[in-house]
Amino acid sequence: MLKVQQLSKSFPNPYGEPNTIFSNLSIDIKSGDFVSIIGSNGTGKSTLLNIISGVHSESSGDIFLGDKELTSLAEHEKTGFISRVFQNPSTGTCPTMTVRENLSLALNKGSLLNLKRCLRHETELLESLLEGISLELKKYMDVQVKYLSGGQRQALSLIMATVSDPKVLLLDEHTAALDPKTSDEVMELTDRMVKAKGITTLMVTHNLRHAVKYGNRLIMLHKGEVILDVSGEDKKAITIDEILKKFEYSV
Ligand SMILES: Nc1ncnc2c1ncn2[C@@H]1O[C@H](COP(=O)(O)OP(=O)(O)OP(=O)(O)O)[C@@H](O)[C@H]1O
Ligand SMILES: [Mg+2]
Repeated sequence: MLKVQQLSKSFPNPYGEPNTIFSNLSIDIKSGDFVSIIGSNGTGKSTLLNIISGVHSESSGDIFLGDKELTSLAEHEKTGFISRVFQNPSTGTCPTMTVRENLSLALNKGSLLNLKRCLRHETELLESLLEGISLELKKYMDVQVKYLSGGQRQALSLIMATVSDPKVLLLDEHTAALDPKTSDEVMELTDRMVKAKGITTLMVTHNLRHAVKYGNRLIMLHKGEVILDVSGEDKKAITIDEILKKFEYSV
């Protein structure tokens, strides 16, 4: 469904020399796959997500979503079907707007309505989006997002990113800034949303416990190459110790 074909990318380093991140990387993601992506710092995980979402362009190669060629599309042309949640809880929401207003905007993503009409949504509908969500988000419906905790903001970002039923969800260390308990709660929410909607999801994480527990596939990148790719029963069987060994050997 999401195909990365022969992707190459290099950035100029501070001395103007090419720093090659990917050289002919190919990854084929099936529809509905929930993929954890792990790997050392600087190995290209965020760059891969940035290329898929159109923040960066590839040096060469192609990206397809089904039959649709994404390579030539700009970031704003992909926001209708690719959603992202970032590491920084301040990134995915508008801080001076309330939870209600943020949800309303997310529901109208991609529409040409003016702001006033965008914000006209039934309380019942908006509350239903927060039904069963931990972190007491419902209680804060009319509170400006800047007053919410990082965990509450990430939960809200996640709901906003999935409410429009995107074809692809890209999560870049979206629980990394949260305390262990909140991080687990946001991860549980992630799993529930992704499964309920069957969204094809790529989740970058350094939390190996989450990488092992969630998703049906695990990919490890090292220096821009896939050095581990397990799914199904192999994914279920893999242990954190086995992954740690891979990290040791891939220095
Ligand atoms: N905009 C940019 N300009 C120049 N170099 C960049 C840019 N973005 C990333 N890089 C380089 O690309 C390489 C991969 O970076 P990337 O952020 O993708 O790593 P990562 O795997 O996400 O690491 P981390 O786990 O630390 O987030 C690094 O060497 C980085 O310096
Ligand atoms: Mg990164």
